[in-house]
Amino acid sequence: MRIRISDQSKKQEKGDLAIVLAKAALLEKHPFFGGLSVGEKSLLSGLVKKFPKDGLRRTVSLAGGRTVLFLVNSGSWNHRRSLLAARQVIDLARRERIGRFSLNLADFETEAGTSRSILAESLAVQFSLANFEFSKYKTLPIGEPFFVSEIIFPLATKESLEIEKGLQRGLIIGEETNNCRMLCNTPGGEMTPAVLAADAVKTGKRVGFKTSILGKKEIEKLKMGGLLGVANGSVEGPKFIVMEYWGGSKKEKPVVLVGKGITFDTGGLNVKTENYMNDMHMDMTGGAAVIHSLAALARLKTKKNFVGLVPAAENSVSSISYRPGDILKTMSGKTIEVLNTDAEGRIVLADALHYAKRYEPRLVIDVATLTGAAMRALGQRASAVFATDEKISQQLAVAGERIGDFVWPLPLWEDYEEEIKGTFGDVANLGKTNYGGAITAAVFLWQFIKGWSWIHLDIAPRMVAIDGEFLAKGSAGPAVALLAAFLKDF
Ligand code: BES
Ligand code: ZN
Ligand code: ZN
Repeated sequence: MRIRISDQSKKQEKGDLAIVLAKAALLEKHPFFGGLSVGEKSLLSGLVKKFPKDGLRRTVSLAGGRTVLFLVNSGSWNHRRSLLAARQVIDLARRERIGRFSLNLADFETEAGTSRSILAESLAVQFSLANFEFSKYKTLPIGEPFFVSEIIFPLATKESLEIEKGLQRGLIIGEETNNCRMLCNTPGGEMTPAVLAADAVKTGKRVGFKTSILGKKEIEKLKMGGLLGVANGSVEGPKFIVMEYWGGSKKEKPVVLVGKGITFDTGGLNVKTENYMNDMHMDMTGGAAVIHSLAALARLKTKKNFVGLVPAAENSVSSISYRPGDILKTMSGKTIEVLNTDAEGRIVLADALHYAKRYEPRLVIDVATLTGAAMRALGQRASAVFATDEKISQQLAVAGERIGDFVWPLPLWEDYEEEIKGTFGDVANLGKTNYGGAITAAVFLWQFIKGWSWIHLDIAPRMVAIDGEFLAKGSAGPAVALLAAFLKDF
């Protein structure tokens, strides 16, 4: 999708238009309204007079074969509504096969008073997220998805430069989120640790970061007993993906991102039952988010240093799978007592978090579809965030709110450490009770990064897109936009 700024002095917009109203009463003041004929004006006015309580979203035909994408909000209007409206415009355009149209940026303004370039960035993210479909495996020619190819923004020249920059930044962030979604949607049989690693290499070449892939031999040399243990049951060997982007000064310590890369989670010998195994090809979402948020940061030419680490493995069932009761020695020297082979994410992350310390990071952020408990706590509308520094956590939440990738805090307290003490090993990978599973998982990870500035994002709640958010079925691509928006200024 392209975005183009057109000079506002050419008052009359040609071609198809979109009119997005925060409330019906704004119709007559809309800049596109003035250019319409008397008949067309009364057509639109008539529509808003009898518009339904749940809002209006439809097309209206104008003279000369032109079309208006007409959206009228009902109820409150705020930043979240505005972001949703951006997706709705694209959704309507795609359904009506309108590939190019003019849009008025000011339609999306709210009382929050977000600067127009930041608003532009956040909106462009939504445009591209809504302009995505995972159709790679569909062979039928009928019903091929239609995409919006261009949005034109008529803008006065004096403000257009900053806004255009914001829009282009947003497109980059949106595109990389979609690249992440593509990986996540790829079936487990095809998305193996090696394939995930190959994407990191390819992406690094495309955007300019350095990637090294460590295979089983090298992982053994590093004594990453956690990653090796989880990977043991699969013929697909583990990979440890290391990505480095040095955009800042030599002296500056990097932010290290760590992503859970379980390419399929059967649960292992504690095999998942019923439909709990559905969607577990997306258990590498954290890894894909790390690869593609790094890609976004590189493409944004961020003048900072970043490292991405992805421990990738398949959690499979076989006669040589790791077992409940096994005790794994991690790279840190700490031993993990495996009480449940389905709590595998924290085990592979333990090794990766320890590895992160060699960079003396100024901040470590891990991203993982870690627990069903986080989903039970928050539903599917926000990722859980745990942080050693409340201020940073707050900044992250603000960035997420702006870009439309939401997080909500849960406690990171040492009190919970009691619940993950091992009987025969140092730490158990399962809490002693059935309660607070997202928190005990976070506290488990903390044991491997204690003393460092650290944020843990449990993105399990946001792994899959839900009805009503105007995203294609499948992966929601969580954390890519969040991390890109937060880290480009951190
Ligand atoms: N990958 C799952 C968590 C998950 C569940 C992500 C649903 C997305 C949607 C993780 O490896 C897992 O199985 N966690 C267990 C932990 C339990 C055994 C302590 C869980 O949450 O049930
Ligand atoms: Zn699991
Ligand atoms: Zn898992």
